[in-house]
Amino acid sequence: MIEDLSVSPEIANKLEELSAKFAAKGQKLSDYLEGLLYADYLSYWDYIQLDTLLSLQKPKTDLKDEMVFVTYHQITELYFKLILWELDQLTDGSVTKSQVFLDKVNRVNRYFKQLADSFTIMTEGMDRDQFAKFRMALMPSSGFQSVQYRLIEILSTDLTNLVHADYVLWLSPDDPVDSFLEKLYWKAGARDGQTGKKTLTLKQFEEEYDKLLLKKAKQYRQKNLRRSMQRWIKDDKQGPHIIQALRQFDQMANVHWPLAHFKAAVRYLVHDKGVKGATGGTNWRKYLPPRFQRIIFFPELWSEEEKDNWGKSWVMEHIEVH
Ligand code: HEM
Repeated sequence: MIEDLSVSPEIANKLEELSAKFAAKGQKLSDYLEGLLYADYLSYWDYIQLDTLLSLQKPKTDLKDEMVFVTYHQITELYFKLILWELDQLTDGSVTKSQVFLDKVNRVNRYFKQLADSFTIMTEGMDRDQFAKFRMALMPSSGFQSVQYRLIEILSTDLTNLVHADYVLWLSPDDPVDSFLEKLYWKAGARDGQTGKKTLTLKQFEEEYDKLLLKKAKQYRQKNLRRSMQRWIKDDKQGPHIIQALRQFDQMANVHWPLAHFKAAVRYLVHDKGVKGATGGTNWRKYLPPRFQRIIFFPELWSEEEKDNWGKSWVMEHIEVH
């Protein structure tokens, strides 16, 4: 059926708006209308780039469960991307209403909750014997080398809160950004358990990303989430809710997700015959548990007692650290 082509006032209005839009860039609407004659309809598969997406899961071995491993890592990285997407907006000064600030922190919390709750896809999902084999083909790569994870930290808090406990007293918040980089908790953690030397996993990562991380650390020094929250936690109406949401974020990012992840490491790397080294080669049982890392993005939102007990009760209840 051919459409009624008489131009209604609504259509005339739309055409005027479109014409103004194209004119603003020196373009003619009539040319673009002609282009529509040849343009195809958008399909779902093109829109979400399905073929490309499904071509990205490339296990290194023939062991079937490696597909679960690689795909779940990619799913996690996509959530990290969404978390960074919100953190970027929370710190770029574009949020002008306390409700929007709160909504965005809650979004980040939902993403982290989803990640922490879904870790069973790994912890229950893969055959341990297959894992023990395919992990050997993946060395020395490790989730440790997730740059998005490091960016989430840098966008969330000051570098002083990411420094390894051994160095805290040595640094003052005004020291140059460069002096923090070597002292971050994860750089101290990624050392060979025996020799204390940097692992190859860390060296590879530094070569690829140190420059970027330094740049981002400088960029977010004055405007990370801890800095930008100061204004909003005093908000008369939403302040208490924002504090609550930020505390949840701290727990999600620095206790719940790390513990779900640690549980996976215990399940797959601790066997009857003893403990396996990780592909990244760290002393991971000392390095990964939150109660040893003690990373807290927003220390001012926690009591001294809460900070002293950071990550403890869950570890005690659920995981035996040898
Ligand atoms: C069976 C599954 C997994 C095991 C056994 C495991 C094991 C480990 C171990 C032992 C480390 C310490 C570094 C090293 O020596 O390699 C580590 C670090 C890390 N892994 Fe995993 N991992 C698993 C799954 C994942 C997944 C799905 C992700 C998602 C991206 C991930 C992200 C990370 C991150 C971000 C770190 C650094 C943590 C930090 O610095 O606090 N891991 N992993």
